[in-house]
Amino acid sequence: MANTLTGKHILLGISGGIAAYKSAVLCRELIKRGADVRVVMTPSATRFITPLTLQALSGHPVQHDLFDAEAEHGMGHIDLARWAELILVAPATAQAITRLVHGQADDLLCATVLASSAPLCVAPAMNRGMWDNPATRDNIAVLHERQVHVLGPAEGDQACGEHGPGRMLEPEQLAEQVELLFADAVLQGVKVVVTAGPTWEAIDPVRGLSNRSSGKMGYAVAQAASRAGADCILISGPTRLTCPQGVTRINVSSARDMAEAVQAEMNDCDIFIAVAAVADYRPVTPQDEKIKKDSEYLNLELVRNPDILASVASGEPRPYTVGFAAETRNLETYARQKLVSKQIDLIAANPVAGENSAFDSDDNELLLIDKASTLQLPRASKPVLAHQLIKEIAKRYGSR
Ligand code: CTP
Repeated sequence: MANTLTGKHILLGISGGIAAYKSAVLCRELIKRGADVRVVMTPSATRFITPLTLQALSGHPVQHDLFDAEAEHGMGHIDLARWAELILVAPATAQAITRLVHGQADDLLCATVLASSAPLCVAPAMNRGMWDNPATRDNIAVLHERQVHVLGPAEGDQACGEHGPGRMLEPEQLAEQVELLFADAVLQGVKVVVTAGPTWEAIDPVRGLSNRSSGKMGYAVAQAASRAGADCILISGPTRLTCPQGVTRINVSSARDMAEAVQAEMNDCDIFIAVAAVADYRPVTPQDEKIKKDSEYLNLELVRNPDILASVASGEPRPYTVGFAAETRNLETYARQKLVSKQIDLIAANPVAGENSAFDSDDNELLLIDKASTLQLPRASKPVLAHQLIKEIAKRYGSR
């Protein structure tokens, strides 16, 4: 693994939730990537995992008491706040998030965060009901406004036996996200428009044609573009995802809505990335009233939707244009055909068959194809892959 965090000062803050046991692995993941890690714990975190464990892993004394005169004599909370180049609170419990939002300073972790001007990341970890509670939602909205990086949470089985959103991201995923935050601003001042998610083609007011796209890859691409300094517009079909920080989202439903929204942004667009799984066809005449099942057969007449990517590539002014190709077989051949037929600059092809399918998965792999080259980006999490893709796009865009 490359030492992408070499010499970076990362302050790992641990608050008191069951996910605290994973912070030991997170500490190691950060160190493995070259970071110099110091750990601060809240008193309740010490009930889930011992400071001694984190001290052994980080190689530094672990502090958890604001009023520990001896510790303050060493590296006190103000020194720690100055030392940190990035603060990562993981896990960030509902309580820790509330305290951070309110700027409380009566424990060492919150006092250090308050005193620091380093970028702050929080990795929420809580029961799904707590995560969905309006109090937490409001707190998260405040963190977003303050440009705090909210990493996760993931969805899945929870320690309390429930299933849903609120799980802390896995240590490796968190370390990857931290790496991306230290990445270069390769698209500073560049306007990037990204389409994402499925489209919804109405049959009647309650039914429609859509597909299995989750939108995760498109959202990850928009986030990576924004983190690379781009002014990023995300034009999204219906998904359950939250808009990445720093990105402006325009919600659309049908392919024609998406086409219109894209055209409206094309005047000053530098790079267009079409990740959306746009429906190729739509019903010719969507019904105003719900269709009743009063006949044995029902014929649905469909008509082709506009090809958004192809029309951007043939338009004027023409941005650097990137398409996606999801294929179940002959990945490279079909993708190269699309590159030529749609006259685009770069195509990112991904397999959607078998166990490596990108559908609804958190991982993906990409084959990047342009006129001159083919480059394999091996299987990785979508945020990591999106970051690599953005770097490749920036390289090609810069040398046009
Ligand atoms: N695309 C688009 N507008 C459409 C259809 C697709 O912008 N109406 C974009 C997608 O966002 C993606 C690329 O085109 O970047 C996919 O190409 P496409 O030929 O539509 O893929 P498939 O529908 O899978 O093609 P085929 O059925 O020919 O395999």
